[in-house]
Amino acid sequence: MKYDFDEIVDRRNTESAKWKAIKKLYGRDDIIPMWVADMDFKSPPEVIEVLKKRAEHGIFGYPMLDDDYFYPFINWIEIKHGCKIKKEWIVTTDGVVDALKIAILAYSKPGDNVVIQTPVYYPFYNIINSNGRMILKNSLKFENKSYRMDFDDLEKKFSLKRTKLFILCNPHNPVGRVWKREELEKLVQLCIKYNVILLSDEIHSDLVFSPNKHIPIFSISEDIKDTSLTFYAPSKTFNLAGLKASFVVIPNERLRTEYKNVIESLASESLNIFGMVAAKVAYEQGKNWLDDLLNYLKGNIDYVYDFFNKKLPNVKLQKPEGTYLMWLDFRAYGDEQKVKEILVNNAKVGLEEGSIFGEEGNGFFRMNIGCPISILQKACNSIYDAFKDL
Ligand SMILES: Cc1ncc(COP(=O)(O)O)c(C=O)c1O
Repeated sequence: MKYDFDEIVDRRNTESAKWKAIKKLYGRDDIIPMWVADMDFKSPPEVIEVLKKRAEHGIFGYPMLDDDYFYPFINWIEIKHGCKIKKEWIVTTDGVVDALKIAILAYSKPGDNVVIQTPVYYPFYNIINSNGRMILKNSLKFENKSYRMDFDDLEKKFSLKRTKLFILCNPHNPVGRVWKREELEKLVQLCIKYNVILLSDEIHSDLVFSPNKHIPIFSISEDIKDTSLTFYAPSKTFNLAGLKASFVVIPNERLRTEYKNVIESLASESLNIFGMVAAKVAYEQGKNWLDDLLNYLKGNIDYVYDFFNKKLPNVKLQKPEGTYLMWLDFRAYGDEQKVKEILVNNAKVGLEEGSIFGEEGNGFFRMNIGCPISILQKACNSIYDAFKDL
């Protein structure tokens, strides 16, 4: 491996939310943080280098996007996922959550329904609720050691008159599924049948472990191009979340115009210079770094999976098909709050309790394994010590 993912980088005295918020979230500051989805690895050296150069330039006036900015992203999607995107389909935004919010404002009215597949990334709830739209839950089903979609329930919810939007999370945070072509095809058929606009959050799409393969939603059929938006960012892939650069792929011209109208009305079109510089170089030069990262993450996942199966088999878990997030079932140890207390005060690890992703997640905990393996080993051993006699 060319890149060093074993290096422990001290983030305590930076503005990192993952490290700064420990005391507020867990009530003590001696916690190993394994919650929010960013990694404790440095970004690719090529990205750090270009940011240093840009900082040394010393002038940070208003930036302007040109074609050079889009092509590395377009090439990336073609090389990594085998799909062609036209430049005019792309709208830039400064974060995927805000980009989803804009879509909700653009294509629905207060009181309309938005369907999500729970348990799911919790800001989805907030962006729907805070804009006066109604959440309809299409709960995922856990069968044969895997989560699957409940299409019968989905069809019922899509058939309601006020259902306008559906948010897909692919790969799915927190359950780690990478949806297969057959699943996406069924989904797309239903969206088209009921005229529901599909918002596909594919922020984790580069973090997929073979043999699983990510399939961008707009590549499923020609029809879905006219009724979908796909959301990307280099932020999970290259650990750049604080730089706020993201891309929305909107092939249909009418949907794109409506989307841009909302951006204009909110005056939120400008990007951050450092985000622009980093995104471009990451997509241009980050492929080898990402290949090494995926190998490293795979090792971390194998470690956690084997550890719990051998040493603490009452904690049930699957290997994620994508993402650096693992979904651990602690229900054998009883009440979620009680388990959280043991994790925090005895094991001193900061996982996220499953109920914040939806009631279906109650008793599960999400563990972010994007850290040096020595930290991961320490966390797993501490969890073992805290639970072994219970
Ligand atoms: C599914 C999903 N979407 C969006 C985001 C956040 O995106 P952004 O920081 O670009 O708003 C995350 C971060 O964890 C995520 O997991």
